[in-house]
Amino acid sequence: MSKGGNGLLKRVMGMACGLLLAGHAMAAEGPPKPASLRVATDQPGPTIDRNIYGQFVEHLGRGVYEGIWVGPDSPIPNVRGIRSDVVDALKRVRVPLIRWPGGCFADGYHWRDGLGPREKRPMGINASWSNQPESNHFGTHEFMDFLGQIGAASPFISVNVGSGSVREADDWMRYMTAPADTSPGAERAANGRKDPWEVPFIGVGNETWGCGGNMTAETYAASFRHYAAFLRNYSGPKAKLIAVGADTDDYAWTETLMAQAMKWRPDPTPLAYVNDRPLMWGLSLHFYTFAGNDWRNKGRNIGFDEAGYVAALKRADFTDELIARHAAIMDKHDPEKKVAIAVDEWGAWFDSEKDAPSALYLESTLRDAVIAGHSLNIFNRHADRVRMANIAQMVNVIQSLVLTRGEKMVVTPTWHVFDLYKVHQDAHLLPVEVKAPDYVKGDTRLPGLSVSASRDKDGAVHLTLVNLDPNSALDLDTVLAGAKFKTAEAKMLTAPAIDTSITFDAPDPFVPKALDVRLKGDKLGLRLPSKSVTLVTLRP
Ligand code: AHR
Repeated sequence: MSKGGNGLLKRVMGMACGLLLAGHAMAAEGPPKPASLRVATDQPGPTIDRNIYGQFVEHLGRGVYEGIWVGPDSPIPNVRGIRSDVVDALKRVRVPLIRWPGGCFADGYHWRDGLGPREKRPMGINASWSNQPESNHFGTHEFMDFLGQIGAASPFISVNVGSGSVREADDWMRYMTAPADTSPGAERAANGRKDPWEVPFIGVGNETWGCGGNMTAETYAASFRHYAAFLRNYSGPKAKLIAVGADTDDYAWTETLMAQAMKWRPDPTPLAYVNDRPLMWGLSLHFYTFAGNDWRNKGRNIGFDEAGYVAALKRADFTDELIARHAAIMDKHDPEKKVAIAVDEWGAWFDSEKDAPSALYLESTLRDAVIAGHSLNIFNRHADRVRMANIAQMVNVIQSLVLTRGEKMVVTPTWHVFDLYKVHQDAHLLPVEVKAPDYVKGDTRLPGLSVSASRDKDGAVHLTLVNLDPNSALDLDTVLAGAKFKTAEAKMLTAPAIDTSITFDAPDPFVPKALDVRLKGDKLGLRLPSKSVTLVTLRP
């Protein structure tokens, strides 16, 4: 069993009684099971940072080219080459932040290749992803334009540590952020952008333990310190540096980075912090969900059975323990929790079946929605330490929010979950006690109900509830302690089967529907269908 987040959420194990069948056949839906919650609506905790709902875009497969960039001459409706259907979909879920240009791609990228007239840009090689040709038509200006078209989204620029240099990364920062009356600013202005851009987040490399440089933790800690001495914003607020963190459960990496790279000096002298700020704003964590724990056999993306469903949920549920353990190491070095965990790559990554495996295009099913709902609840519950997360990847790659096929576009079940959950952005986490039966399949026992709750600036309380069990509904009784509410409403996403998928040629089966709720005094009742994700909104 995984641990509850921050001690705020206590799970009380119940007896599981689902009917279990092997293979593709699902158990007949059993009778609803009772479950209960107690939400302390008057005990607001840490802010759920909007950037937990961040995104990741890499030059990979059809993620950038076709997924975002179609070029100004395309018959696909676009603004300055950026497709409008994708922009509209992303605007609706209020994307707060996008990490770019990679991923592994970032450590082979030179920012200068993406500048100037597009017809003159070099045709490069995407060495990280099957040596595909890279037109460089989507560069810094196009990325910033894309963010602007979406609305509020901030850039998170991943600089090249693996094959680049401190000078190259610093030059990029100068180009993006220096005033127009300096040489780098004037060059930017000549390319069409006079005002400096704000670059709030800089990723100092990517997966430097692997594709980003094959470094040891000690080597990278030294490299991070070196880069950190030079990387800055040349106008606007101070840049927040994100150091490369662990791959999954590499707790030793976290220990070394916190011990050797957090402070200006290795010794805890009075000068250890400058302006009381650690050298790194955040330490990243990369964790992908698939069926089982073998990267060479991640399980089917479509047409999977309940064993494939539960295996993936088990790995997704491990996110809770993973964050708790990395956070405990960070607490030793940084008890005031100044350094954030930035889960800047997460998502469900199964074996690709349709496109070339290297393109990492995946069909999208109800299982993805359940994984997204549960993972986001876990991040919310760790809001005291997790202050950024970036799902991999926004369009056409791994667990996408949007899929395109030529001129067609669909939003995925994961998009609907982000749409439901956007109400948590910048709201205050609320403590919740949960009593619910486990979901049991074979040897696997998981918490059957995943929850997070928050209170927004207007006093509205939002609960996001995932019933993981594909075989039983939950009859949920909730006590709303500490405040009175006049109205309650709920929207719920499910589909006929765990592997129901989104297609380009049929109506979207995942559009959330209104769910009946009963609000009486401080009691709220509702029935959560099996394998569903629900948002409840309570207004004072
Ligand atoms: O998201 C796909 C790849 O996964 C990224 O390029 C890399 O950082 C990670 O291994």
